[in-house]
Amino acid sequence: METLTTIAAVRDAVRAARSRGERVALVPTMGALHDGHVALVDAAREHADTVIVSIFVNPMQFGPREDLSRYPRDLDADRARLAEAGVAAVFAPTADEMYPSGATSPTIVTAGHLGTVLEGRSRPGHYDGVLTVVSKLLHIVGPDVACFGEKDAQQLFLVQRMARDLDMPVEIVGVPTVRDVDGLALSSRNRFLSDHDRRTALNLSRALEAAGSSADRGVEAMIAAAQGVIQSNTGVQLDYLAVVDPATFAFVGEAHHGSVQVLVAARVGDVRLIDNATYAIP
Ligand code: PAJ
Repeated sequence: METLTTIAAVRDAVRAARSRGERVALVPTMGALHDGHVALVDAAREHADTVIVSIFVNPMQFGPREDLSRYPRDLDADRARLAEAGVAAVFAPTADEMYPSGATSPTIVTAGHLGTVLEGRSRPGHYDGVLTVVSKLLHIVGPDVACFGEKDAQQLFLVQRMARDLDMPVEIVGVPTVRDVDGLALSSRNRFLSDHDRRTALNLSRALEAAGSSADRGVEAMIAAAQGVIQSNTGVQLDYLAVVDPATFAFVGEAHHGSVQVLVAARVGDVRLIDNATYAIP
């Protein structure tokens, strides 16, 4: 497995793979890899011969009061995991390589209104940073397929919409959320949870399950059931709990039937966590 740090080296590697007639997949990450990231690599290998994983903690998607400096970084451990998972090359650029004109890119891809609701409301500018860096990575690699986790449902939706809106010749593949045996969605931030907070954090997935169990009674009942779980736990500071239509990401009303996505974001201790699940309202 190669580790590449420059855009030129990535382009050379992709050109070589193409000359061998190979299909190429990209898995963008910020490192501190866990089994959720490996599931994306496994999915990518089903779609392509050459899998490239990018590891870049993108400063542009962190707000001024967010955890950029304490975001976990462990390139050696990440490289070992990826070599084992059958990855052809890791692209681990410096911030200078990605943003030669300073802290961010003067030209940005904006997520529009949907970048200002839910996660975007709590994290202003976050999705513009995500879409800008993902767009750059797609242009650098030029993959046939790029894989993203359903864990970050709004991100997946916005990346899919960007690829469509901007006519990017890439298939965006969503990969189901990988969870610990007890239901907690894997996240690079879970390592900051104390044992006690980790147990408290289980109430996010429990709240989603409670919503799912109430799906046959409609949207309001789903929200009430999930809120009941959250409110009975003092350690969970709820940011939002919402039910959206997965086709549009618009909030759904009581009259809605069919598929819905329940989204939750909360702070446990000083760790911000998100989770979601999809259910059907009959
Ligand atoms: P990061 O948080 O490292 O996540 C990289 C990819 O792994 C994302 O597509 C995310 O949805 C997926 N992922 C994370 N946890 C997962 C889980 N438990 N199960 C399945 N997939 C999971 O998301 C980002 O980085 C960045 O915003 C990025 C897209 C790389 C742009 O900087």
